[in-house]
Amino acid sequence: MYEYAVLMAWVEFAVRWVHVITAIAWIGSSFYFIALDLGLRKAAGMPDKASGEEWQVHGGGFYHIQKYMVAPDRLPDDLTWFKWESYATWLSGFALMAVVYYLGAEFYLIDLNVMELAIWQAVLISVASLVFGWIAYDLICKSPLGRDNTRLMILLYALLVVMAWGYTQVFTGRAALLHLGAFTATIMSANVFMVIIPNQKIVVADLKAGRVPDAKYGVIAKQRSTHNNYLTLPVLFLMLSNHYPLAFASEYNWLIAALVFLMGVTIRHFFNTMHAKRGMPWWTWGATAAIFAAIVALSMAPMFREEEQAMTPAAQRFAAAPQFEEVVGIVQGRCAMCHAEDPAWDGLHWAPKAVHLETDADIAHHAREIYLQAGISHAMPPGNLSWMEAEERALLVAWFRSN
Ligand code: HEC
Repeated sequence: MYEYAVLMAWVEFAVRWVHVITAIAWIGSSFYFIALDLGLRKAAGMPDKASGEEWQVHGGGFYHIQKYMVAPDRLPDDLTWFKWESYATWLSGFALMAVVYYLGAEFYLIDLNVMELAIWQAVLISVASLVFGWIAYDLICKSPLGRDNTRLMILLYALLVVMAWGYTQVFTGRAALLHLGAFTATIMSANVFMVIIPNQKIVVADLKAGRVPDAKYGVIAKQRSTHNNYLTLPVLFLMLSNHYPLAFASEYNWLIAALVFLMGVTIRHFFNTMHAKRGMPWWTWGATAAIFAAIVALSMAPMFREEEQAMTPAAQRFAAAPQFEEVVGIVQGRCAMCHAEDPAWDGLHWAPKAVHLETDADIAHHAREIYLQAGISHAMPPGNLSWMEAEERALLVAWFRSN
């Protein structure tokens, strides 16, 4: 089992590495095309059906890009598609979620004080919520409610806020924000997979067959693409939020998440306007700063912690081990001055990374992390500030491995 913990830590790193790289590729190409699209201008001497063009310089060469709204007279045989950036991001993201939150459900996904879930129930809720998200979103877009773009945006925002609140009612705060990110990112990737690319394929097939494609396909794809544009930044915030307990471990974490989506709109609005060369709406930064300040204020509400914490079955096993009493002594002596509700360590105002190591339940619950951070690696205590002894580390290792 202990080799398993190390192996899984590395698998997690590898999958995360892939996920970050594919996400950079997806978001990068998406930002590039948004800016390109907004910057296109009509020019004299453009081919007949071209709607705009742009000159760019990059990496020692000049690029001359022309956009055809529907299509050029003759479609080239070789078309470059942009879809795998998105698919690979979703696939690697789901794999990462499975490694961290499904395989580590007892550590990261389930909080028995929030809801008493078995692992399979928690995983089922997680997967079902992603499927539900896409179906609900897609139905709203296709319904008559979706005809007016502003009304549609407000409805979708309401859906996101309800989900933000809902996730905090079933999962740990950390998993709740991460799930809201996954919920949103699933909608974005499905937009590419289920709508944008299929519509594009219909248009290409029509053109190849000499038919005139229906303009509605382009309009729908553009609408979904606009949603993706505004959702990108909030998704990144939510994906990174698990590093910031102030964001996820506050009573108002769901409200913080709701506000983040508004910042996605204010920030994108600035860049979209600028790239379209329609001026610089500086007020958007004022609005962004005001929302951010509200988030900071909300984060100061402490999360209510039960005195008596419930232990998952895994934690119960670690607490029942013969070495447990000694382990508690070591951890309380070497770690709890920092990893406490109210840390005694000068300059610390909360438990770093929301890792609490005070009570028996805390310590049993974090067995794997204690093993990885202070047993086999010496990442903790930082700089060995609390003078941990080699024998103490050996005992932590023996405790974890005996289970
Ligand atoms: C002097 C204060 C201090 C002491 C003592 C200390 N820690 Fe930490 N711990 C920190 C800080 C600061 C961080 C956040 C590090 C970072 O930002 O990556 C942290 C992070 C962690 C994390 C989360 C790591 C992650 O990236 O998610 C774990 C787990 C942890 N500590 C366990 C322990 C254990 C076990 C001990 C005792 C053997 C211990 N710590 C002792 C300050 C301390």
